[in-house]
Order: sequence, then structure tokens, then C-alpha cells
Amino acid sequence: MTYTPAITGTGVFTPEQVITNAELVESFNAYADLYNAEHAAEIEAGEVEAKAHSSEEFIVKASGIEQRFVMDKTGVLDPARMYPALRQRADDEPSIMTEMAMDAAKKAIAEAGIDASEIELVICAASNMERAYPAVAVEIQQAIGAGGFAFDMNVACSSATFGLQAAADMIRAGSVKKALVVDPEICSGHLEWRDRDCHFIFGDVCTAMVLERAEDAKGARFDIISTRCATQFSNNIRNNNGFLRRSRPDGVADRRDMQFMQNGRKVFKEVVPMVSEHILDHIAADGVGPDQLKRLWLHQANKSMNDFIGRKVLGREPEPGEQPNILQDYANTSSAGSIIAFSKYSDDFAEGDLGLICSFGAGYSVGSVLLRRHD
Ligand code: COA
Repeated sequence: MTYTPAITGTGVFTPEQVITNAELVESFNAYADLYNAEHAAEIEAGEVEAKAHSSEEFIVKASGIEQRFVMDKTGVLDPARMYPALRQRADDEPSIMTEMAMDAAKKAIAEAGIDASEIELVICAASNMERAYPAVAVEIQQAIGAGGFAFDMNVACSSATFGLQAAADMIRAGSVKKALVVDPEICSGHLEWRDRDCHFIFGDVCTAMVLERAEDAKGARFDIISTRCATQFSNNIRNNNGFLRRSRPDGVADRRDMQFMQNGRKVFKEVVPMVSEHILDHIAADGVGPDQLKRLWLHQANKSMNDFIGRKVLGREPEPGEQPNILQDYANTSSAGSIIAFSKYSDDFAEGDLGLICSFGAGYSVGSVLLRRHD
């Protein structure tokens, strides 16, 4: 006996603090000036390269990003600091990820119309965990009052879709009836805000989704027709901050490779074809043509990248609303991006409409989820 898994609720936690491109560039340029003044002699001698200024125009043109939400803007914008001032929580306090997760989870659980105690599986799927163990998911499980079991998953920007597949497969097989997939992404903690090539890329957010057997849904639902995950090793997006981390006494990594690094141009070139082929193969396997998809909820890293993928998949210029972007407001929020887009742009779906969530990123990794609306 197998069951059809369905998404019955979603929730988004958006931090209160916003950093506009203008604020970000002002602080970056002040940092660059400070650095250049401090290293004036070495720069003069040709031993050190002077830091160039960033610009709002470049950021919007290269990425489509206009602002980002963060858990702490003061630390990020302080030119003498350039990373968030987030307090390490004591062991008897909730972790920051759990606090973010609680808000998003409560919204998703309320939308599904269930009680948290009915949840039998919690997957915390995110790019960076606040600690190694105990799993953050287990803390979230306890905080919301869920039963069953919980575990953490990290597939970078594809964590949420890979988490969706894991939960959907367990529901399909009958090992759990209700699951919560939650994605607290504190990207501000692993972004190198002092690197002009990437300082504008990320923001913080948390998304949550409740999955149930379709037959148990109380209201409208999105049946998960199928999921498809793929990975292919690449060093073009990398963060070496593992358990061999070397850090300063204040806990901040002093090596550049301990923060997010990428070769953005290569990522762009290599990932666009990988993702469009992945989506076309996935839907073809289910006998669905691109023209039958009402919407693509794509990973939110870069506007031109999404425009390319949309054109390749649909074989034409996407119509407004066929491929909504949220990155202008949220920036890249790693695995949460496509789920924010899904959560914000799915209410207009009618019975039988089809849509596809697709994430992509470090690994490389691509995860797609084909959905059908049921009212
Ligand atoms: N302000 C002003 N100029 C900048 C700048 C900034 N903040 N950052 C870079 N530039 C300059 C560079 O110095 C370079 O100048 P040059 O041509 O004189 O050498 C020029 O702009 C182009 O830089 P480049 O890094 O090649 O830009 P890009 O157009 O490729 O855009 C990304 C950069 C990162 C936005 C883009 O490559 C991208 O989004 N790639 C995909 C990334 C992705 O999806 N990653 C997944 C992460 S999970």
C-alpha cells in the first residue's frame, strides 16, 4: 500500500531587519577605505591590492537583488566588523535556528489545520547548522511539541527540495503520516561581507512546509506527483568551515575559505543547462509537457539565471507570473528561496493546475518537485 504525499501548509519567517543595496554599498565602501588606509604602504609598494568600491548599479544589474532581510544588520554594516553580531546561545536557551523555525512552522501548521503533536517527522534542511549536534531538528521537534523523530540535512541550496523528497518518500511508503520540513537559513553568518564579488548575494529567512497523506488533508493541498534529485561534484561553490575549523578567539573564521566562496561565472554557465535538462527530463518521465506547467518556483539566486532557465524549459519567453522572483526583496536565501516563491505565489492555483519547485546550488545539486493542486 502506498500513499500520495501532499503539501498542506507553508509558512515563511521574515526577519525584521532589512539592508538595502544603498546601505550595504555605503558600509562596504567605508570598509574598503579603512582597509586601503590601513594598508597604504603595502598598496603603494605593490605588495597588497587596493580594495575597489562596490556599486548599487552593479548589484542590481548582475543579480536583480535590491535588498535583503537579516537577523542582525548592525554588525554586518559596521565597517570595522562586517559580520552579524549574533550571540552564541547558552545550552539551555533555544538556538537562533529554532526560534526562526518556530515562527515559520507555526504558520505552516496553522495553514494545514493540524496539531503539532500529530507530526511524526521533522527535517531541518539548511545550508549551515548552528552546531554539529544534537541535531537542530530534534530541538525544533521538542519546541513545537511534535512526536516521532527528527534529523538535520544539508545539501546547500537544494536542502529544502531534497528534504521534501525524503519526507514525501516516507509518507508514500507509510513510515510516517505527517511531516514538517523546515529551512532556517542564516546565510548572513556564512557570507563574506568583505568580498566585493559576493557581498550582496545572501539574506536570512526561514520557510516551513507540512506534508501529509493527501487523503488526510483538511483543505486545499498540493499533491506531490514526483520528485527528482541529482548531484554532481563541483568546487565552484564551497565553504570549508567544517569540524577542523581554525578560528579567532571570538569565534570568527580568519581564513577566507571558512566562508562562502564561489566562481559565479562558472556556476552560471554550468548550472543553467544542468537545471533546464533536469526539469525537462523530470516532467517528461511523468508524461507532462512544459506547456502544462502553470508555474515554475525556481531557486532564487540570480534573475538572469532564472530568466535563462525559464526560457529553456518553456521554449519561449515566460509570461509574467509564470516564474515569479522574490530575490529582489530577499536576495539569495539558499534552500528557502524556491519555497518562499511557492508560498507567496500559489494561492491562485485551481483544481488540477500543475507547478514545479526547483532548487539548485552547491554540490552541484538540483532538486525538483512536481505538484498538482487539489481544492
Ligand atoms: N560592484 C561593482 N563591480 C563589481 C562588483 C561589485 N560588487 N563585483 C564585481 N564587480 C565587477 C568585477 O570586478 C568585474 O569587473 P571586470 O569586468 O572589469 O573584471 C565585473 O564586475 C564582472 O564581475 P563578475 O563577478 O564576473 O560578475 P557577474 O556578472 O558574473 O555577476 C554574480 C556575478 C555572482 C552575481 C553572478 O555570476 C551569479 O549570480 N552567478 C550565479 C551564482 C549562483 O547562482 N550561485 C549560487 C549560490 S548558492
